[in-house]
Amino acid sequence: MSAPARQYRPETRLVHSGTLRSQYGETSEAIFLTQGFVYDSAEQCEARFVGTEPGFLYSRYANPTVAMFERRIAEFEGAEHARATASGMAAVTTALVGLVRAGDHVVAAKALFGSCRWVIEDFLPRFGVASTLVDGLDLDQWKKAVRPNTKVFFLESPTNPTLDVLDIAAIAEIAHAAGAKLVVDNVFATPIFQSPLALGADCVVYSATKHIDGQGRCLGGVILAAEKFIQDHYHTFLRQTGPSMSPFNAWVLLKGLETLHLRVRRQTETAGLIAEALAKHGKITRLIYPGRADHPQAATVKKQMRGGSTLVCFEVGGGKAATFRFLNALELVRITNNLGDAKSLVTHPATTTHQRLTPEARAELGITDGVVRFSAGLEDPDDIIADLTAALEKV
Ligand SMILES: Cc1ncc(COP(=O)(O)O)c(C=O)c1O
Repeated sequence: MSAPARQYRPETRLVHSGTLRSQYGETSEAIFLTQGFVYDSAEQCEARFVGTEPGFLYSRYANPTVAMFERRIAEFEGAEHARATASGMAAVTTALVGLVRAGDHVVAAKALFGSCRWVIEDFLPRFGVASTLVDGLDLDQWKKAVRPNTKVFFLESPTNPTLDVLDIAAIAEIAHAAGAKLVVDNVFATPIFQSPLALGADCVVYSATKHIDGQGRCLGGVILAAEKFIQDHYHTFLRQTGPSMSPFNAWVLLKGLETLHLRVRRQTETAGLIAEALAKHGKITRLIYPGRADHPQAATVKKQMRGGSTLVCFEVGGGKAATFRFLNALELVRITNNLGDAKSLVTHPATTTHQRLTPEARAELGITDGVVRFSAGLEDPDDIIADLTAALEKV
């Protein structure tokens, strides 16, 4: 097996990093659909288990196809190490659980994907880990939330669905002054536009289900950090509890990485055009897009992101009934709760991803019944704009 030896530029790394070629010299990476491995001798088996000889043991621990995916994303992200998981939520849960014990405390931004918020608010407290939710944009709230037992800060930026942009470097500084670690969910920014580790985060997580696959095929997640951080906090948890990524999914996601920069850049250009077309539309009462000068945290976007977003958040005037009329009138853009796909998608967060929150909690986050999250696909932008504007006529 061989891997490229030289250090290449980022987009070249997305195509080649981590490649392990078998004796057959295949062009495309092989899918090693095997649960386990065999050994030449009992001595070799023992050496693998005690770690004196490198090699694979069992696919819950590590697998060659999964290892190729992990190496490729780690090299692109600029992380020492990556560990793949079965879904984004397995990555988020592992990243948090691995850092805490009963009696510890976690601080997180309120504006989180619904399942992440459930893990922080409901799941961790069951095991004696207290949590405080703060307005992530207000640095004083992060500082005031710190307790002597605070071990983790957690945030996503841009946030789901209202695309607030949190100051990662400033929050990392507060976390570190408190002796806590910062975990960042970088799903909305993608590795193309934001590098939380370079901004001071200790750990980055992705739902690879989103842009990394980008074609709606399979679930996956990934945790990225320094090798020692992963070894100390996650290695044993992952091995023993088994939220492992399937080798088939790893192969799909590995191939997804090869085209990630092309897709994300094109989707971002399209999202920018859609934001432009809708910003002044009479039926739209609010529009948030990180690529625009009128974004509420435009200075932070400029400071920490290398591009806008593949997502646009907008509010349709007239409440839930009007918004449902708009959604139901769409012909090309499809209603879903997913994002980051080749197909343009819309989500109604109040009744899907954030329906578990109380109306008051949604109001606090600006998630009104008119809020729509739009995820730009790879179609011709003019066809998407025509579909959105025709549907707005039906409101
Ligand atoms: C910001 C964010 N984090 C995490 C997840 C969870 O990812 P998965 O669905 O792959 O478990 C999602 C999924 O929608 C998400 O949007």
